[in-house]
Amino acid sequence: MELLKALQKRRSVRKFTEEIVSKEDIDILMHAAMSGPSACNARPWEFYVIESETTLQNLHKATKYTNMNAPLAIVVCGNLSRALPAPLTDFWVQDCSAATENILLAATDIGLGAVWCGIYPNDKAVANVKIALGLPEEHIPLNIILVGHPDQFPEPRDQYDEKRVHIV
Ligand SMILES: Cc1cc2nc3c(=O)[nH]c(=O)nc-3n(C[C@H](O)[C@H](O)[C@H](O)COP(=O)(O)O)c2cc1C
Repeated sequence: MELLKALQKRRSVRKFTEEIVSKEDIDILMHAAMSGPSACNARPWEFYVIESETTLQNLHKATKYTNMNAPLAIVVCGNLSRALPAPLTDFWVQDCSAATENILLAATDIGLGAVWCGIYPNDKAVANVKIALGLPEEHIPLNIILVGHPDQFPEPRDQYDEKRVHIV
């Protein structure tokens, strides 16, 4: 699929079949994630790939908006011990967001469905996810990406609005 087509085809998918996501597909998603840009190429990210049904259920309990039937969750975390020193530390959020979008686009390209569920900067959700996964102190969950084989197919769309483009 051409990239420009994938950009419009990528939509949030929140209903999944029971088919599991193969190791090969997980590998593709992780390669896509770590191909993203990061400030000073610091790559301050960690990816927790959750296949265990028990851990998926614990994650759903820990957060409000992730209770969907995906067979896989990828928790994208910033690793503060790899982040840039102040005042640039918070670039980890942008670095991990770029990795997240790469995962969503790669999922679209290989026919998977996915949805980005935000965690950071909701302090309570961050704390709950850290407990549910037993994360080390320096790993901050930015989001949970639910992934699976789609059981719904939102229409591709172009949200272009020329009024939001300011050519100076
Ligand atoms: C930072 C962020 C947080 C989001 N959190 C959630 C969420 O908690 N639950 C959810 O179902 N979708 C969530 N989404 C998905 C958005 O609702 C979705 O991207 C938006 O409605 C546009 O629809 P589309 O992804 O199909 O283009 C989030 C997206 C972003 C970028």
